[in-house]
Amino acid sequence: MVIKIDRLTKWYGNKLGCQDICLSVLPGEVFGFLGHNGAGKSTLVKMLVGLIFPTSGQAEILGRPLGDTEVKKRVGFLPETFRFQDWLTGYQLLNFQASLYKMPGSTRRNRIEEVLKLVRLSGHEHYKIRTYSKGMQQRLGLAAALLPDPDLLILDEPTSAMDPLGRKEVRDIILKLKDDGKTIFLNSHLLSEVEVVCDHVALIKRGRIIASGSINELKEGNIEVEMKIGNFNKVVQQALKDTGIPVWWEKDRVLATVGDREQIPFLAETVIRNGGSLYQLNTLDNSLENLFLSLMQEGGEQN
Ligand SMILES: Nc1ncnc2c1ncn2[C@@H]1O[C@H](COP(=O)(O)OP(=O)(O)OP(=O)(O)O)[C@@H](O)[C@H]1O
Ligand SMILES: [Mg+2]
Repeated sequence: MVIKIDRLTKWYGNKLGCQDICLSVLPGEVFGFLGHNGAGKSTLVKMLVGLIFPTSGQAEILGRPLGDTEVKKRVGFLPETFRFQDWLTGYQLLNFQASLYKMPGSTRRNRIEEVLKLVRLSGHEHYKIRTYSKGMQQRLGLAAALLPDPDLLILDEPTSAMDPLGRKEVRDIILKLKDDGKTIFLNSHLLSEVEVVCDHVALIKRGRIIASGSINELKEGNIEVEMKIGNFNKVVQQALKDTGIPVWWEKDRVLATVGDREQIPFLAETVIRNGGSLYQLNTLDNSLENLFLSLMQEGGEQN
């Protein structure tokens, strides 16, 4: 287990940061922590990296309790808001960070070149950071987090300043790191970002986890089925209602949300057995988005 969190709770005075968070992240997994602004995502990762202390609960990272200094060396962290010494060049910044990690001079240069290449900043490293775009600065932050070749990488909204192309680039970097066997914990408010790179996700709302599982589990638990039915009379309608599966219709177009794919042939059979003509049946691939939207409704702001 790379991360094991047991009822971690943070109160800022009488203001809730997050409450009773329990989750586990396995080696090599990309874990997405998804929630609206103010939901409690940064609060959790700040506790994990030791920037703030939990009010209660506990957690282990790489088998050691929070605050273990040996473990800190094996964790790379990209905070959500960071300000670099922007009078430095990208290279100087990474060199400075490498010195904080006490990286020996002999390997330092190579490692800096490697991470620059990985985040596609090679060729820009001798310009001052103040001339970088926001996206480039964020990629530089990612390079800094990658410097010590960490076993665990914690990224707090790594693409918040980026345009769609920049987002795709970061996505590709994450997928490459995943291929290299790294474990990644990713905070995001973008379902689209999490869906393509993450194996597991947890949804946080108002400080509490409201759903978690693998992307497939979450998808499978909410499959949206669309049908076109001829001879869609009261008998067929009643039979569909009697299945207990949530169904809606407008004229001959019927939508149902099933919690298990085995219910799909059952729906078809119900229509046909009751005299309906099933012209079309397809599953819609927006189920995760629907789940996300329905779970997140009412907004995430606690303020
Ligand atoms: N230092 C603090 N003092 C008081 N309240 C805080 C502090 N930091 C965070 N909070 C509150 O805790 C809650 C969770 O905030 P947090 O920053 O963890 O959310 P988030 O999910 O990271 O949001 P965002 O997507 O905007 O980054 C919010 O209501 C926030 O106002
Ligand atoms: Mg945050």
